[in-house]
Amino acid sequence: MEKREKLYEGKAKIIYSTDDPDLIIQYFKDDATAFNALKKGTIESKGIMNNKISEVLFKHLEKNGIPTHFVERLDDREMVNKKLDIILVEVVARNIVAGSLAKRLGKEEGEVLPMPIVEYYYKDDALGDPMINMDHIRALNLATDEEMDKIRGYALKVNDLLRKFFDDRGIDLVDYKLEFGRHNGEILLGDEICPDTCRLWDKATHEKMDKDRFRQDLGKIEEAYAEVCRRVCEE
Ligand code: TMP
Repeated sequence: MEKREKLYEGKAKIIYSTDDPDLIIQYFKDDATAFNALKKGTIESKGIMNNKISEVLFKHLEKNGIPTHFVERLDDREMVNKKLDIILVEVVARNIVAGSLAKRLGKEEGEVLPMPIVEYYYKDDALGDPMINMDHIRALNLATDEEMDKIRGYALKVNDLLRKFFDDRGIDLVDYKLEFGRHNGEILLGDEICPDTCRLWDKATHEKMDKDRFRQDLGKIEEAYAEVCRRVCEE
């Protein structure tokens, strides 16, 4: 398979077309942004680590019944994916209060939720990805009710699978963001799953092992990503 032209450059990744119209290549950059790109920086080797972590997590989810866009990891920074028609709804699932939920509800970070919370955000950088509900999704015609039922079901199943996966590796899965897309009439899980898109806390020390170290200038960012990569990638 051959890499062709750059289709899109995002904040952390570049998407390339290939000679197969059904496949694209995701290139993982070291660039990091936060607060809708108001804060910019680089996290050394982040792209390499996120590519590997995403590979392991996509394979684990596929094996357990979640259809994903993952095809294969090509090299350090590149992954082959099925080309999706991306649904413009970012799906966040939460197990522990943190980030914008702590702010919105005036709750302390760290409170364990009695059940997972699933939230939807409109994927629109110019608007800063505002939170939306099913009525907005219908009115904006972002996805059908049937698609959203499937997506919510997948998000909750991903939650069960990844919570257990991380728990076995001494990590609490606090929350995470997923993106889905359409492919030949099917809904597939897309994008990436990594410490940029998840909050991960060490179970023993409660130390943050994710992009909050960058967002909040906590230091030891590369070290935290490397430790997640080590725990996720070891058999
Ligand atoms: P939030 O608490 O800031 O709403 O973030 C919830 C989760 O979503 C957290 O794990 C980080 C992830 N996330 C992204 O992947 N991209 C984003 O643009 C934002 C705001 C959050």
